[in-house]
Amino acid sequence: MSPRIQAVRGMNDVLPEESSRWSFLHMRARQILEAYGYREIRLPVVERTELFKRAVGETTDVVEKEMYCFEDRSGENLALRPEGTAGCVRAGIEHGLLHHQHQRFWYSGPMFRRERPQAGRYRQFYQIGVEAYGMEGPGIDIEVIALSARLWQNLGLRGVRLQLNSLGSEDTRGRYRTDLVTFLQRYQGKLDSDSQRRIITNPLRILDSKVPATQAVLSDAPSILDYLDTPARSHFDRLCKGLSDLGIEYEVNHRLVRGLDYYTHGVFEWVTEELGSQGTICAGGRYDHLVEQLGGSPTPAVGFATGLERLGLLMNAQKILVPGYGPQVYFCWVGDSARAVALQEGERLRRACPILRLIVHTEPMGLKAQLRKADRSGAQLALILGEDEVAAGGVQVKSLRDNYEKLLVPWPELASTLINQLGMKPDDQTEGLF
Ligand code: HAM
Repeated sequence: MSPRIQAVRGMNDVLPEESSRWSFLHMRARQILEAYGYREIRLPVVERTELFKRAVGETTDVVEKEMYCFEDRSGENLALRPEGTAGCVRAGIEHGLLHHQHQRFWYSGPMFRRERPQAGRYRQFYQIGVEAYGMEGPGIDIEVIALSARLWQNLGLRGVRLQLNSLGSEDTRGRYRTDLVTFLQRYQGKLDSDSQRRIITNPLRILDSKVPATQAVLSDAPSILDYLDTPARSHFDRLCKGLSDLGIEYEVNHRLVRGLDYYTHGVFEWVTEELGSQGTICAGGRYDHLVEQLGGSPTPAVGFATGLERLGLLMNAQKILVPGYGPQVYFCWVGDSARAVALQEGERLRRACPILRLIVHTEPMGLKAQLRKADRSGAQLALILGEDEVAAGGVQVKSLRDNYEKLLVPWPELASTLINQLGMKPDDQTEGLF
């Protein structure tokens, strides 16, 4: 036997059971995003490396240590996207969608970061992201946060807390950085080695350190909120008030900084205690200078992204069940004439009832073995067709999950019988699929 090839570390297969949860999450997210007027944008997985260097920041962990970069055959430096915001801005500028316009976009897909894998942290992970452009006031910050809150509510997630901070304007961060560096240099010897290095490269990121000794030092560090200028303070206050007006609870965390350099003003994270150290299920904020930094005209912007793996883990921890997407009906047949009828009637059923999920058995096999397969498929009902049923002009319907009698149903009544027995409601979205 040839040696087996295994998946790359940190890049996971999503098997059918888990995949049902993803489909469900995706469907709910799409419904909510569309209800708020967001339109889907589909972006490439590969972009020029330069895009992320400029957007995310050369000294961030994401760019410095975690990007999958490669040279393609013509010598171009390309990268697997580590996040979606940079590509969304690039596309918006390239297609003239951002200049003097209000835009609301959403996207989804895999992102890649070469982090150390652990539960909730992977090298390929899947995000649903939201980006809004052209709106300066806090109304749009409030909208994207409300929209994410609506998603958790809709999914039935409990105990996710909203943390908020403001990183103010560039001037705020400049003044704050100077004072923070002075403070940190005083305690340099007590900081972990990574944080010592960051004093020069990216001092604000030290606020995010999980190392206990560093955290102890940080308890006396200056707060960025004391450095906000009047417009930044007013923006943040209006954001907080707007959330309160909508009944959305939040905590202000002045040490909340983000791992990507493009943020300004309000930033936020939704966190849970139930996923250990990878408890941030969603994160985002305002990034008013990025469009300009990437060659567009000055355009205010705000957005967030949520990680599907973490949402899935949390739903699992909270025992939130999602509808299965496996087959509901398994069509068994015995004999050549029954096989031909089963294939034809199977097609007719799918046309008549597009929301029905039906497997027609394909290989010649004894009825008992077919019924075992039907049971293992997870279907609730089996259809059984032999010579007798063909002659009688119908099919036996048998419940695989309880002891109801088998029932001979004439072909014209089959679709409505199945819909009744499965307790299905006609679904507008899939109507006309065939
Ligand atoms: P981020 O905080 O880097 O922000 O990622 C957003 C979310 O993606 C995280 O809260 C987490 O749920 C998930 N995530 C990140 N890294 C991993 C990983 N290695 N494994 C599993 N899940 C992960 C951004 O990506 C920004 N682009 C968000 C944004 C959009 N800001 C403005 N607009």
